[in-house]
Amino acid sequence: MIRLGIVYFSVTGTTELLAQEIERGASSVKKVEVQSFRINKKQLVDGRFVDQNMLAQLDTCDAIIFGSPTYMGGVSSQFKAFADATSELWCEQLWANKLAAGFTCGSAPNGDQSSTLHYFFTLASQQGMLWVSIDAAHGYTKKHLNRLGSQLGVVAHVSGDGLHEVDKATAQYLGQRVAELAKKLNQSESM
Ligand SMILES: Cc1cc2nc3c(=O)[nH]c(=O)nc-3n(C[C@H](O)[C@H](O)[C@H](O)COP(=O)(O)O)c2cc1C
Repeated sequence: MIRLGIVYFSVTGTTELLAQEIERGASSVKKVEVQSFRINKKQLVDGRFVDQNMLAQLDTCDAIIFGSPTYMGGVSSQFKAFADATSELWCEQLWANKLAAGFTCGSAPNGDQSSTLHYFFTLASQQGMLWVSIDAAHGYTKKHLNRLGSQLGVVAHVSGDGLHEVDKATAQYLGQRVAELAKKLNQSESM
């Protein structure tokens, strides 16, 4: 069984909706088990992320997808606290060769969401992980996926009408893509 973890922070639920779409996409791939982890306030003590059990569960995943709302052009402090806690794994590169991907949202169409994705990419690289992009060119897919033109990861723009259907579909697509690639990588390793 391939294991895929989704770790994210959300207050008003938009990032959570994206996480659910990613989970839906990843779960559509056979022999892939998906677990979502929403960062919560009990896991944060004096600004530090302290949930070692969650980190241990993520250790067992073949792929980890990171999510955070964009706050002031970057990840939320709560997600950053989680990222800082992974420094304990960094010395021995314990997450090396796991797949990684990311998703974010913002209230502006271009509210610097790409900076958040760049941070996820940097975090993944620090951990020796392999970044999965979105192979859907803006304007060139039947479902009009990736409507905001971000191939680094899922970017959503939330307006008064809520989360855009295409952003949901793009999140689902990325979840499926990461799950399929994790499966492929696992099969080639066991050959
Ligand atoms: C402190 C703060 C900073 C924010 N900064 C940005 C920003 O830089 N760019 C943007 O597009 N939206 C920004 N927003 C809007 C949030 O990204 C947006 O409301 C998002 O949907 C919240 O995600 P959630 O529903 O998962 O909590 C900010 C919101 C807050 C509370």
